Parts: sequence; C-alpha cells; structure tokens
Amino acid sequence: MHDPGIYALIQLMPTVLRPAGWALWAAATVLDDLADQRDAEPAERAARVEAWTQALHCELAAGTSRDPVRHALVDSALRWRLDLSSLRGAMISTRDDTRGRHFADWAAWRAWCNGAITPWVDQVRHLFERAGAPMTLRLDRQQDYQWFIDGARLTDTLTDLSADLAQGDLFLPQEALDAFPGAEDDLRQGSWSQAAAALVRELTALARQWVTRPAMTTGMHPGAATVLNTAASLMRAQLDAVDAAGHALLKRAPRPSLAARTRILAPARIRSKLAWSLTPLTAPGPRRPTVAASEPSPEADDTALRPPPPHRDGVRPPQIAADRMPAHVAVIMDGNGRWAEQRGLPRPEGHRAGTAAAHEMVHGALEIGLRHLTLYAFSTENWKRDTEEITTILEAIRRDLDEGPIRDLDVRQRWLGHPDKLPQELVQALLREERRTSTRTGLTLTVCINYGGRDEITRTAAALAQAAHAGDIDPHLIGQDDFARHLPHPDMPDVDLLWRTGNEQRISNFLPWHTSYAELCFTSDYWPDVDRRDLWQAITEYSRRQRRHGGATR
Ligand code: IPE
Ligand code: IPE
Ligand code: MG
Repeated sequence: MHDPGIYALIQLMPTVLRPAGWALWAAATVLDDLADQRDAEPAERAARVEAWTQALHCELAAGTSRDPVRHALVDSALRWRLDLSSLRGAMISTRDDTRGRHFADWAAWRAWCNGAITPWVDQVRHLFERAGAPMTLRLDRQQDYQWFIDGARLTDTLTDLSADLAQGDLFLPQEALDAFPGAEDDLRQGSWSQAAAALVRELTALARQWVTRPAMTTGMHPGAATVLNTAASLMRAQLDAVDAAGHALLKRAPRPSLAARTRILAPARIRSKLAWSLTPLTAPGPRRPTVAASEPSPEADDTALRPPPPHRDGVRPPQIAADRMPAHVAVIMDGNGRWAEQRGLPRPEGHRAGTAAAHEMVHGALEIGLRHLTLYAFSTENWKRDTEEITTILEAIRRDLDEGPIRDLDVRQRWLGHPDKLPQELVQALLREERRTSTRTGLTLTVCINYGGRDEITRTAAALAQAAHAGDIDPHLIGQDDFARHLPHPDMPDVDLLWRTGNEQRISNFLPWHTSYAELCFTSDYWPDVDRRDLWQAITEYSRRQRRHGGATR
C-alpha cells in the first residue's frame, strides 16, 4: 500500500481522474495503517477499522466528511457516481487481518486476495469506465486479470516480509511453505537459510509469471492499457529487487533503484500522455446527493421503498379479476440486435436500449400487482456470439445492478443461471442485490443470466442422483415434487404466461420445467420498443384464455 509505484501509476491516469485515484489509494492506505498500528491490541485495531468504515457509510449519505481522506473519497464517489458498496467486503477483510491470518493452501490465499484487493482495483476500473475510457477486459481474459491481481498480492507479500514477520505474520499459504522444509521456521527466526532463500526464489518466479499477462490488455484503450502494463513492469522490477536483497529482505522492504524505475516510467509517461491527449474524456457532472455506501440491512432498505414511477403518458394498468391474473409471467426479451440493425447502429446499442424496456416491465408488473416476473437476459447458447457483444450485454447488466434504478422498489431480485464463465464482478453484484432485497414482499423478479433449460434440468437430475446416492431419497419413489424441490429456485411457481417479443415463435431453451403448461404469447415488436402497456396487453389477453390443463370444457 505504501508502494511509491502506486503514486507513479496514478500519475499515468488522465488528470481528471487522478484526484479520485488518490482518494481511493489514501483510503486503502489509511485502513491498512489502522489495521497495522502496533500500539494497539488486535481487538482495538479491528474496532478502529470498523469505526472508520461505519463513518464512511454515514458520510456518503450526508455527502461530506470532516476527515480529509474520507471527504476525498465521498466527494469522488458522488462526483463519479461510484457505488462503494463493493468495498465493504474489502474493508471487513482488512479488519479481520488484524487478527492474523493462516492459509492452508493457495486456494484459501487466493480467496483472501480476491476479497481484499479486487474490489479496490475494480473501483479504479469503474472510474475509467465513467470517464469514457473503459479498462474493459475481454471475457476470455478474466482469468488473466485474476492471475494479475494474485501476482500483485504475492509481490506485496514478498516485499513486506520483514514488516509482517516483525508482527508474527507470514501471509503465505502453508502449502507453499511446506514445499521447502525448514523455511518457515528459519524465516520466523530471522535466519536467511538455504531453504528460506529457495522458497523466496520460487515465489518471486511464480509472482513474475502471474503478473506477466500480455494478452490481458489486448484491445483495451491504450491509456488504460499503459497503466496496467506499467503496473506489471513495476512489479517485475520490485521482484528483481526482492531477489537481489538476499538476507536484507528480512530487515527492510527492498525497492527497485531509481534507474530501474525511470527506465519503466519515462516511456510510460510519454505513452499515456499521448493516449489521453487523443481521447475525449467525460468530466464528472454535478455531484449526486447520495450514494449507497454498503449493504444496508433489509429493514433499513424497506423503509426507503417507493412506488414505481408512472408511465410517461400517465396510462394506468387495466383491472384484471384476481382469479384471471397470472401468478408468473416469463419474458423472452428478443429483438435487441435487429432493433439496432434497423437503425444502422451496432448490435450492442440494441442491448443498451433494451435495459430501459426491462425497467418498464418491472414498473408495469408492480402496478398491475404481478407476483412473479422472470426475464431471460442471457442464455447458455448466447456464448456463441461475438466477444464484444457478450461483453456489452453482461456489462449493461452489471452497470444496471450497480446503479440500482429499481433498488428502492418493492422488488425481491434474484438470479437464475450458472456462474461458469460469467465475470466475477457480475456474479458478486447479482448476489449482492439478491441479499439486499431478500426480504421484500412485492414482486419477485428473477433474471436469467447464463441460463439454459437443459442445463437446469441436467443439474437438477444430478442433484437428485446425489441425494439418492447419499441415501436421502429412495430412487424408486422419486416423483415430480422431488424433482421440483431440487430445482435452483424451488419456490418459483409454474409459468402461467410466456411472452416473447421480436417476432420469433420458439422457446429457445427457456424454463422447460416451468412452462410445460404455460399460455404462449408472441408479439412482433423488438424488445427496446416495448413498454409496460405491452406487458399489460399480454396479461389482458391471457386473462381471456381458457385453460384446461388436460380437462374438458364445461
Ligand atoms: C435478445 O436480443 C437479447 C439477447 C439474446 C441477449 P437479440 O440480441 O437476440 O436480438 P436479435 O434476435 O438478434 O434481434
Ligand atoms: C433467447 O433469445 C435468449 C434471450 C432472450 C436471452 P435468442 O435470440 O438468443 O434466441 P434464438 O437464437 O433466436 O433462439
Ligand atoms: Mg434473438
């Protein structure tokens, strides 16, 4: 955190973004310092981190702070519309660091890295995005990004070995230490043995490999790419310094020489200056009054619930008799791509435009009193599309979750689909909103992302097989109810009405179990062109249908 390299990296950001970069860095550093203060017991240090975090939460709502670092962070968050709620987990992790850490293996170590560092780096990425120079990672590079972050953490840990050991800490996984018998004891006793040296050599090589991810920045804005590539070069120089330190590593944190740093930074400054001078950046607009700081408790959330905004023409929903209302409407939101093509726009524009229609459906569903609305946003088959289109769809969903335009409505939000291949930050955002809204009682909105009906059925069958194998269920007695209980959301009712826009008449692998007796409604408008009146129209049509479920008409 005290690494002067970070200062140099912030200097590579466009001028307009630097104050926010400094604010984030300062906040992370202060929290780290609070967690490390040697004059206090761990419990006291944990309390200080917690108090700082709580104060930030209140001050974000107030829009100001008397503490200079928090004030800078509050100001940046409001100016750039950053949602700092994802930092809450990182702050809790810093608090818990005060109690010492032990990692059995690399997986445990990596999980810690992920929770403690990734949210901070992600905030910087949001900043770039807000300014109009996104640090977008291609989906097939997400794994590189993860390695890169792990490499940064390992570089930091090796650099700070002396300071950590002085506090009795060794933030390395047991698995790595055990590979060099005796190394751990030697390090803890301050002895630079052959085993200790071999361990450090192995770990610097590993870190070098992890931070060297040239493909990670392919296709990225050149300014943003320069920041990341320079970070990687600085880390390699730092690892060289660790390797060169020898026994001095146990006395103080090694730093690369001025010459080594200059060799990296001088060309990077020229490159980034040129890149930013060619990019029109968006300066922040006026400050927004408040930004959510952390996950409020569900109770606090519910007191702030507001009714849905009315339709722009003031149209009100039709009156549908209670026994004619569908309990569950599922929608295949189709036609975004064709909507864009029809206007000569790139397909991704269609997906961006589709977000407003999805909000409309939520508003319309609340107004008409629907209990369950399920939206098909991204199918397991949609991975066949171009990476750019996929990134836009998933990014639009993530941004929408972060901005939270439906957050204060009486909507319980949840996600149906599988996390495989989805960006980590999207998964986090989905789970966050699910937790935040879990006690709402109005509309249940299920968004299907990376969802496939056959995938769902296969996984459910596997879960049943496991239950049978474990002896929890007799395979001879398995019935439909048992199957339904093993679905990912067992409380999701059957779909009464399945509505598809975009002039196609097919199901496209959507909710096969739940739609087996659904009424079908196909309309021709492309998704970005529909609004809540179309939902009401579909429900009105449904209310006139005769459903027999295999029985005979009376
Ligand atoms: C639906 O719109 C949205 C998703 C599948 C994610 P499309 O992108 O399928 O639009 P068309 O069908 O190509 O017009
Ligand atoms: C179905 O639409 C999936 C979603 C709306 C998310 P597609 O556009 O992918 O379906 P096909 O390819 O026309 O069947
Ligand atoms: Mg389509």
